[in-house]
Amino acid sequence: MASLIFLSLLLFSSSFHVSSSFSDGLVANGNFELGPKPSDMNGTVVIGGRRAIPEWEISGFVEYIKSGQKQGDMLLVVPEGGFAVRLGNEASVKQKLKVVKGMYYSISFVAARTCAQEEQLNVSVSPHSGLLPMQTLYSSNGWDAYAWAFKAQFPIVEMLIHNPGVEEDPACGPLIDSVAIKALYPPRPTNKNILKNGGFEEGPYVFPNTSWGVLIPPNIEDDHSPLPGWMVESLKAVKYIDSNHFSVPQGRRAVELVAGKESAIAQVVRTVPGKSYVLSFAVGDAKNSCEGSLIVEAFAGKDTIKVPYESKGKGGFKRAALKFVAVGPRTRIMFLSTFYTMRSDDYSSLCGPVIDDVKLLSVRKP
Ligand SMILES: *[C@@H]1O[C@H](CO)[C@@H](O)[C@H](O)[C@H]1NC(C)=O
Ligand SMILES: *[C@@H]1O[C@H](CO)[C@@H](O)[C@H](O)[C@H]1NC(C)=O
Ligand SMILES: *[C@@H]1O[C@H](CO)[C@@H](O)[C@H](O)[C@H]1NC(C)=O
Repeated sequence: MASLIFLSLLLFSSSFHVSSSFSDGLVANGNFELGPKPSDMNGTVVIGGRRAIPEWEISGFVEYIKSGQKQGDMLLVVPEGGFAVRLGNEASVKQKLKVVKGMYYSISFVAARTCAQEEQLNVSVSPHSGLLPMQTLYSSNGWDAYAWAFKAQFPIVEMLIHNPGVEEDPACGPLIDSVAIKALYPPRPTNKNILKNGGFEEGPYVFPNTSWGVLIPPNIEDDHSPLPGWMVESLKAVKYIDSNHFSVPQGRRAVELVAGKESAIAQVVRTVPGKSYVLSFAVGDAKNSCEGSLIVEAFAGKDTIKVPYESKGKGGFKRAALKFVAVGPRTRIMFLSTFYTMRSDDYSSLCGPVIDDVKLLSVRKP
């Protein structure tokens, strides 16, 4: 009897593991490599109805783009595989996802702005939605990966990616190449760190085939961060980077502050007024040709420190610490980069200092 229970527990835990790891990665036909039948297309425009693209439900002016296709004088190159979709005015793609009710998930997608200046995408999983701006180019080839997160309210949810734009040319709109999902496990503070997710190890899916990280957009209307524990409060995104493609001070993940003072990440922590604390962290460069005198500004409530870092763009880091006395029951910890920096190998790509291994501990007064 006992062994039977043990066996069923084993089966249960292993089957649970399979279904949860199954959900990390591309969604069904997430890279749009399976396309419409030729009879469902007129040129690039999908005319075969809502079910014309396998696994997706589409609406509005959707184009199916082959890599290398020309549009005017622009060559459309698709980063992964050979195909992507373009969402024209008011167009959308959606897909049902099997999730675990109550759990947090992040959605990562690779997209490129095309003709309009202020393109944006509305990503939603009812009842949550987020409007992700794509007007600022972070990588010179035009493609970037973006992340957004939600808490599942139902066991089956519908993920919708919608272009709310209305341009003169209905074919103007962002291209989408890959869509992936990852379960998030919101970390808790420990006795070794009052901050949550200080090493940024928990975060959105990073596409293994792309080398430009994932942008964590400003969470203006979003309570669920794809970078658990952290908020992006500023106007611009921060970039989530992985050790497979970048130099990372500690562990496998870190954050690159890519847009100067316009891109900051923050976390509010519980503190005891009058108690002393040390905020320690690593500042470095991602080995992405981001050269020059970089400065990270760290804030703990009203206390602040500027940490200069001379970057040769070849990877590396130093450690810094800020000692402060808490003045309230909550203290806002925040990081930003003083300057805008461009990559020396690519003057149209923003880059910046990397932060990692952020720890907050209370200390005895000296
Ligand atoms: C295909 O598009 C052209 C204009 O781009 C239009 O004139 C034609 O009627 C369309 N054909 C079909 C079958 O929808
Ligand atoms: C985004 O889409 C959701 C779901 O369709 C909708 O409820 C929300 O109002 C949209 N947000 C914006 C800003 O368009
Ligand atoms: C990465 O590339 C390989 C080979 O082209 C492909 O099979 C795989 O689906 C890609 N993975 C993702 C997540 O795009």
